[in-house]
Amino acid sequence: MPYQIEFATAADEESLRSIFLASDMALVGDIEDHVVIKDEAGTYGGGLLYQLDVDLFHLLTIVVQNDGRSRGLGSQLLQALLQKPWSYCRDSVVEPAQSYRVTTVSRGVSRSFYQKNGLLDCDFDELTEPFARQCQFCPDQAECSSAAMVYQR
Ligand SMILES: CC(C)(COP(=O)(O)OP(=O)(O)OC[C@H]1O[C@@H](n2cnc3c(N)ncnc32)[C@H](O)[C@@H]1OP(=O)(O)O)[C@@H](O)C(=O)NCCC(=O)NCCS
Repeated sequence: MPYQIEFATAADEESLRSIFLASDMALVGDIEDHVVIKDEAGTYGGGLLYQLDVDLFHLLTIVVQNDGRSRGLGSQLLQALLQKPWSYCRDSVVEPAQSYRVTTVSRGVSRSFYQKNGLLDCDFDELTEPFARQCQFCPDQAECSSAAMVYQR
């Protein structure tokens, strides 16, 4: 059964909020700005992507429910976002003419997930504000081992 990857609706809010909460994360912003991976049985995860410039996108967050992990769901969702980011930003202004970048900040062990999906480490200075400094004042910074990452296409 193929999964659908599409913008979330109000009907996805409760499930996606629970999935975030189970990972000690919050659902930030409007539910309709998120993209979810789902099938007719339910919603398994989601992400939130912003277009910062014509050729620059930032993945704020991505999550898959605890008991659905390590089955490729996260990669399927992430690859959709990386290959056509303009299709998954509510406020997308235009499709980039040629090359584009997708940046993110990985938390802890998720770095290997991003590396597996083609993102490379980069300097935090390469991120646009406020993301370039988002970790500087975070009390969890030491335990989190966050890393700035970029996908170049
Ligand atoms: C990161 C996340 C979205 C990956 O989803 P997923 O459906 O498990 O992803 P995939 O099945 O496509 O890939 C899994 C791979 O990611 C890496 N990975 C993800 N989580 C990992 C963990 N806790 N420990 C070790 N490796 C991990 C591994 O390479 C793993 O491969 P494996 O299953 O063969 O060991 C999911 O683990 C998650 O929701 N984590 C909590 C939220 C989070 O950290 N989000 C990212 C930062 S905002």
